[in-house]
Amino acid sequence: MQFNKKQPVIFLVFGATGDLNWRKINPALYNLYLDNWMPDQFAIIGTGRTKLEDQELRNKLKDGVDKFSRKGKAEKKNWESFSSNIYYQPADVKNSSAYDTLADKIDEVKKEWKTEPIVMYYLAVAADFFPIIAENITKSKLPTEEEKARIVIEKPFGSDLPSSKALNQLLCKYFDESQIYRIDHYLGKETVQNIMAFRFANSLLEPLWNRNYIEHVQITVSEQLGVGTRGDYYETAGALRDMMQNHVFQLLCLVAMETPVSFNADEVRNRKVDVLKSLRPIKPDEIKNYAVRGQYSDGWVEGTEVLGYREEEKVDPESNTETFAALKLFIDNWRWQGVPFYLRTGKRMPQKTSMISIQFKDVPHMIFPEEAVDNWHQNRLTISIQPEMSIRLQVQAKRPGLEMVLNNVNMEFDYENTFGKESPEAYETLLLDVMMGDQTLFMRGDQVEAAWDFLTPVLDAWSTKKRADFPNYAADTWGPEKAEALIAKDGFHWFSAPIVNHK
Ligand code: BG6
Repeated sequence: MQFNKKQPVIFLVFGATGDLNWRKINPALYNLYLDNWMPDQFAIIGTGRTKLEDQELRNKLKDGVDKFSRKGKAEKKNWESFSSNIYYQPADVKNSSAYDTLADKIDEVKKEWKTEPIVMYYLAVAADFFPIIAENITKSKLPTEEEKARIVIEKPFGSDLPSSKALNQLLCKYFDESQIYRIDHYLGKETVQNIMAFRFANSLLEPLWNRNYIEHVQITVSEQLGVGTRGDYYETAGALRDMMQNHVFQLLCLVAMETPVSFNADEVRNRKVDVLKSLRPIKPDEIKNYAVRGQYSDGWVEGTEVLGYREEEKVDPESNTETFAALKLFIDNWRWQGVPFYLRTGKRMPQKTSMISIQFKDVPHMIFPEEAVDNWHQNRLTISIQPEMSIRLQVQAKRPGLEMVLNNVNMEFDYENTFGKESPEAYETLLLDVMMGDQTLFMRGDQVEAAWDFLTPVLDAWSTKKRADFPNYAADTWGPEKAEALIAKDGFHWFSAPIVNHK
């Protein structure tokens, strides 16, 4: 898909004074502008309940760029020319007449440009507002036709299967699926996009990528941070909803999917949906064998004392919310039958890391004498998503010397060492794709529902059964003991994140 600089674009950002716009959306748009990836004519119209002048919003957003942009502080000249396209129009999203005022604002810009722009409605607001905003947009003079409008929404897309279905039905009442861009920012990460390139542009892997050669797969997405100031949101979410249902499952889909017919948005998304639909359902009475939950207690992180989850701001002191979740799952299809997948994610763990480990099977017969295989390990492919950005294959080699002794060595591809260049932020990639109308990196409604469908029994069981042993892991540890047991009973252990030495 080609980027058309001549196609004017208007971003109508709901929640423009909020955190997301300040930290992510606006710095991404500004960086796209600096890299010449914004259309010749564009406008960013922010809206929110607060009364502000255009200049006040511009000042706030500049502060966000200065603080969060990967390119550092905004230079005066560049910022002034970019920000002259930012406007603010106060509106109460619950008030339907406010939408006509927004439409008038768009008309003003259109008149000046004398062309027809595409309007991107960006819902950077709490999920409770999605329905009312979508409905009010369609009831107003604002454009909604397929060729003139797109709507971008952030997770959570529902909180279980029924609520996600209801949300999808509602959105599809007003917009066509081809106009809906559900953001999962993991899909915009370079290393995540590279999984498809690595798998489907190299013929070497495909013959090995199945149950005949792969013993098991692990996905770890850990964070060192706690819940911070987001206690109120997190209390309604927990690790399964906040990370597993979306980010971790996206990684799972990319590792496990079949080869799409082409790199076309729907072809790619069809194959991802297949993975989710092939997940073996976890029966309610078997949940404890397949799912483990945890909640962090206080402790020390890099020399600083940190609070336990229940002591955090806006968190119930008796909270039953999980801050850690681990799953063991199976994919019932020809490729993966019998291969266990272990997934874990949590907050307040010793390290921030996102990585996928593919453990290959043992050699069928070891020809080397016992003394040679002292330090021998199976082949393992580790795809490090962040903060390390690398792919490494652990193989065996003969250690130099007069004796035959095998040693583990790594064949590795490291992004920084290879390409050096700084990568775009996930939001830059995703916002450019929205402008280009490319939905490959966005979640389709059926994919979201398939993920909820699989997880809903676990969510239901966890919400009804309060855990008496919470908190059950200390800050700066890798989760509760039961998570170790989940994998240890199959004879495996969780792999630790690789340390990469950059040149
Ligand atoms: C968000 C979650 O979607 O992803 C947060 O709501 C989490 O709780 C964040 O911290 C992690 O994103 P990243 O890109 O830092 O791995």
